[in-house]
Amino acid sequence: MPGNPSKLSNTEREARMKEKLDKAESIESLDEMNDEYYEHLTNLMLQQADSELAGGFGYVPWIMKAPTTEEMLVVSNIVRDEVRHARAMYRLLEDAQFGVDDWVEEMDFTFRVDDSKFLGDKRAASDKRVNIFYYPIESWADFVMFNFLMDRGAGHQLEDVKVSSYGPWRREIDRIFKEEKTHIAHGDYWVKKLALDPQTKPEIQSALDRWWPRVMSIFGRPGSRKNKRYRELGLKKRDNDDVRQTFAAEVRERTDAWGLTIPQWIPDWQKVPEDSVIPG
Ligand SMILES: [Fe+2]
Ligand SMILES: [Fe+2]
Repeated sequence: MPGNPSKLSNTEREARMKEKLDKAESIESLDEMNDEYYEHLTNLMLQQADSELAGGFGYVPWIMKAPTTEEMLVVSNIVRDEVRHARAMYRLLEDAQFGVDDWVEEMDFTFRVDDSKFLGDKRAASDKRVNIFYYPIESWADFVMFNFLMDRGAGHQLEDVKVSSYGPWRREIDRIFKEEKTHIAHGDYWVKKLALDPQTKPEIQSALDRWWPRVMSIFGRPGSRKNKRYRELGLKKRDNDDVRQTFAAEVRERTDAWGLTIPQWIPDWQKVPEDSVIPG
């Protein structure tokens, strides 16, 4: 990806950036970030933008396949929210002089892997979406489980953006966050309803079994060097594993109450050698 297009030198920008970060003031422009900050920032914002767009595209068939006309409208609104979130993030990237239209044209956000394939933290294509968005949504139970788990997981990750050192992103996140909360509520309503009905319980349990390892993999590894650097730059606030554990506890409270069982999950990093690549 191209570097910071500011006319100031990296050293000049770094001095300005340090001054701002030391005083816990916001970074507001490209002249106030060094090359490293710019690279991390655009990368993180692109991860969110691409995930929002790929997510929205994956929901589209569920407008037609929703169980009631009321739900058709709910799904349409969710699609609209996600495309709006994507657009809000791409606009921030445009403000950072990132070539959004060329990027989006090059990527295929409708691409999905086979449902039986488990990616772990291996990438499936060159866009920046979070891995969970590569899996297909095959049933209504999948769709509502996705709201229940992934919208909630994303919500926990966005908590860190609320205190980001980058002002424009931080100011954008509140509205996105509010809309994500309505998606989570939709997931809660349906997962509870399907779990409490003995006829539909096996189906929603099986959706939980399939999506649980996928959602637990979105947060990245504990103690990752990249995450540590993000925290030093004010681009994240907590360790990957803190976010994951907070998320998992919130899910467990609900699944326990509704009689669903969270499957065992063995993290990738407990299966592979220590010195392999650590994603952020
Ligand atoms: Fe979203
Ligand atoms: Fe959402």
